Amino acid sequence: MNDMYFQARRAPRAVDAALARDVRDGLGATQKTLPSKWFYDDEGSRLFQRIMTLPEYYMTRTEHGILKHKADRLADWIAPDGRALDLIELGSGDGEKTLSLCETLLRREIACTYHPIDVSQHALSELAARFSGALPALDVRPILGDYFDDWPATSPLRRQVALLLGGNLGNLTFDQSVALLDRIRARLAQGDVLLLGLDLKKDPAMILAAYDDAQGVTAAFNLNLLRRLNRELDMDFDLAQFAHFPTYSPLDGAARSFLVSRRRQTVRSSVLGCAFAFQKGETIYTEQSQKYSFDMIVQLAAASGFAVASHVTDDLGWYTVAVLQAIEQRR
Ligand SMILES: C[S@@+](CC[C@H](N)C(=O)[O-])C[C@H]1O[C@@H](n2cnc3c(N)ncnc32)[C@H](O)[C@@H]1O
Repeated sequence: MNDMYFQARRAPRAVDAALARDVRDGLGATQKTLPSKWFYDDEGSRLFQRIMTLPEYYMTRTEHGILKHKADRLADWIAPDGRALDLIELGSGDGEKTLSLCETLLRREIACTYHPIDVSQHALSELAARFSGALPALDVRPILGDYFDDWPATSPLRRQVALLLGGNLGNLTFDQSVALLDRIRARLAQGDVLLLGLDLKKDPAMILAAYDDAQGVTAAFNLNLLRRLNRELDMDFDLAQFAHFPTYSPLDGAARSFLVSRRRQTVRSSVLGCAFAFQKGETIYTEQSQKYSFDMIVQLAAASGFAVASHVTDDLGWYTVAVLQAIEQRR
């Protein structure tokens, strides 16, 4: 691989401070909450890789199928004129899905630099190994950091194509989503493109099953968040005293995961210097995964300076890779 390097934008201490703040605020709130980005320590990333292969978890293979079998349609949108590209992937994970798209761009002889951004060192190391093995000619520049803060330096002569796949946007509320899309839009020039992978509304039973697999891997993933807090903030969560609880509401299209306290208990952190009391049955809200209608995607795009140019969906219409084009900013 040419020019492979890691840009560590954030010192480990700063990540610890952000985690400490999120945990103090989140577990101190009336509805206890922990942001889903903290799932992805090395063990969390490994568990998520297993989740993506589970029979119930249709999202990954459906989106992967779109990127693999419809890569030429996507390439027509992102590289219509042979201009050089900066491909900037927010929350890239191990990059498995993006590989086919990069292969297609190289086959079309598009000059392309791939900038995957992820908070997980483990995921970026896997990505680096995958790309150097499969596409040694591609210029890959991983960035270890938070995609809310970090963006690569790019040239105005190249088209920027941002990718937000894996339903990552679905972890945010509508307002948070518009705020993130706004920030992405601010980095792009008119005509640049954002590829947005989004899960579509469908049979509620199928959606709920995706977060409640028979092997219990999703439960282990959810509980691993507490193990991380035990290790990094010296907390004393007893994992056996919390249960994974997934829900899906067709009313608002949100799948939400919780951890439920099995008994009345108090959890302490020597790092934070405080304790958190749990009633029996009290919940920690750990993740939202939004499911979308096409109307909702148009609303999101319109609210953040994009227009929906196309929907590239799988043949069953379960999932879309929406092609959003940056339109003129009226502010
Ligand atoms: C659901 S996985 C999706 C991975 C990949 N995009 C895919 O579709 O297979 C989410 C990824 O985003 C990363 N992530 C989550 N929040 C992030 C943030 N705020 N900044 C950077 N990476 C983040 C996680 O580490 C994880 O690798």
